[in-house]
Amino acid sequence: MKRLNTQLQEDGCPLELILLIRTLLAACKEISFRVSQGALAGVLGSTLSENVQGERQKKLDVISNQIIKDILSESGYVKAISSEEEDDVIACHPEGKYLVSFDPLDGSSNSDINSLIGTIFSIMHAPQWLEGDDPKAFLQPGTQQVAAGYVLYGPSTMLVMSTGNGTHMYTLDKTHGGFLVTRENVKVPEQTQEFAINMSNQRHWQGPMQAYVNDLLAGSDGPRGKNYNMRWVAAMVGDIHRMLCRGGIFAYPFDYRDPGKAGKLRLMYEANPMAFLMEQAGGKASTGEHDILDIMPEDIHQRVPVIMGSAGEVNACLEYYKES
Ligand code: AHG
Ligand code: MN
Ligand code: MN
Ligand code: MN
Repeated sequence: MKRLNTQLQEDGCPLELILLIRTLLAACKEISFRVSQGALAGVLGSTLSENVQGERQKKLDVISNQIIKDILSESGYVKAISSEEEDDVIACHPEGKYLVSFDPLDGSSNSDINSLIGTIFSIMHAPQWLEGDDPKAFLQPGTQQVAAGYVLYGPSTMLVMSTGNGTHMYTLDKTHGGFLVTRENVKVPEQTQEFAINMSNQRHWQGPMQAYVNDLLAGSDGPRGKNYNMRWVAAMVGDIHRMLCRGGIFAYPFDYRDPGKAGKLRLMYEANPMAFLMEQAGGKASTGEHDILDIMPEDIHQRVPVIMGSAGEVNACLEYYKES
């Protein structure tokens, strides 16, 4: 089976970026090990602290963040980093060529029930002018990502990543510690009969999303003319992984409870990297009004509505927004 290095070289990835990716993955392997130890390593449960978004941090949020932060800041490849679990940007090496935004542990509420969790990352070039920890350096649209991906800590540990030359899936071979290509050039099926959305929030959505989901629920007798199935992992990494493997539509839409925050998911380290993977696999990613990758960020922790997955189904959903 093909090794990670070979795939990255075939995709024309520059050496320094390969080295950075390998460094980041060393951190993810460490997280994978800690996660698999579970209660034996005392890593489950919550801390007493909250992150900048007002979420109570899990022990694994804090541990994963620390592992990635330490390895990246010592690597020399990175000029600055930004994380869900850090209020501010952290300056790393002044000569580093890259910026990394990451969600150290996605779906952390699943950690206590031995269910799917993962790490999401997005890599961009560091601007020449950047000195120190100026967050403006990170405010680049998702189209500027040079690599994005996630590591899924499931029954097997998988890496799904794109460096702009297709989306590939890798499986961690724990016998020798390397990631091997197990699915090259993933293509998301254009049509689907599967959706993933937290239905308990339906009454808080805007009209178009409510109408769209009502039509899905109407099944073969409704305007969509087919029966849909619903799945919700409660971890974006798990839901997006399913979409990439077999198609589907995932949404965490605009929510009226807090219009300023526009839903739950964060642009820089959740929506953008997943949108990049999705588009590289022939899928689509939108807020309902704009392509996610075109958004000019205003804040490193900003939230955006997310609708992504099979292109045909995302387009069908967007028709409801056009009509409104
Ligand atoms: P995180 O654990 O990094 O804070 O992210 C959790 C997010 C995302 O992974 C998932 O899609 C969503 O929260 C689940 O939300 P619900 O609580 O509405 O199921
Ligand atoms: Mn969180
Ligand atoms: Mn997350
Ligand atoms: Mn997280």
